[in-house]
Amino acid sequence: MSHSNHVVKQAYQIGVADREQAMNQHGQVLWFTGLSGSGKSSLANATEVALHQLGKHTFLLDGDNLRHGLNGDLGFSNKDRTENIRRVAEVANLMADAGLIVLTAFVSPFEADRQAAANIIGNERFTEIFVDCPLDVCESRDVKGLYAKARSGEIPDFTGISSPFEAPKQAAIHVHTDLQDLVTCTQQILTHIPFNHA
Ligand code: ADX
Repeated sequence: MSHSNHVVKQAYQIGVADREQAMNQHGQVLWFTGLSGSGKSSLANATEVALHQLGKHTFLLDGDNLRHGLNGDLGFSNKDRTENIRRVAEVANLMADAGLIVLTAFVSPFEADRQAAANIIGNERFTEIFVDCPLDVCESRDVKGLYAKARSGEIPDFTGISSPFEAPKQAAIHVHTDLQDLVTCTQQILTHIPFNHA
C-alpha cells in the first residue's frame, strides 16, 4: 500500500557513487537470519568489530534494539513481522546508499520477506547469512528465557515453537553455530563478504 501517488521524487546532487568514493568502500548489506538464540547478534557484532578494525565504515541494526524504537509499535504476528522487515530493509537500503556496510540481525523467518528485502536493497549488494542452529540447541541455550515462556504459552507466536521459521535454501553464507565457535563462524563470514574498494 502506498500513499505517495502525488509525491514526485527530488533529484540529489551527490549520488551513491560520490559517497562511496569518499568512503573508499561500496555500500552493502549483510543480512543475518536465524532462530532466536542462534547467535545472530553475537556474530553480527563480532563481524562488525572485525570490519571496523579493517577501517571499514559500518552500522549494525539489531531486532531487539529496533523493536524499542523505530519498530516499537510492532508485535510478532505475520503481518507485523513483514512490516518489521520492510522497514529494516528500507533503512538498511538508505544506509547502504550512504556508503555504509550494514549488518542486520533479525529473525526474519519468512522467505518472501527476505526476498522483498533483497529487492528493496538490490540483490547485488545484499548478502544473506543463514545463522543455522537446531531448535533444540537454541532452546537449551535459552539465553533470554523466552523459549520457556513460549512453551508455557506465556509468549504466543514464538518462532520455532508456535510460529514457523522458513530456513533459507540458498543463503550466500551458511554458518552452523552449534558445530563451530564464534571465531570460526566470524572468519567464515569475513572470507565470503564481497569487498571491493569504490
Ligand atoms: S522478526 O521475526 O520480526 O524478524 P526480530 O528479529 O525483530 O523478529 O525480533 C526477534 C527478537 O524478539 C528475538 O530475538 C526475541 O528476543 C524477541 N521475541 C519476543 N517475542 C518473540 C516471538 N514471538 N518470536 C520471536 N522472537 C521474539
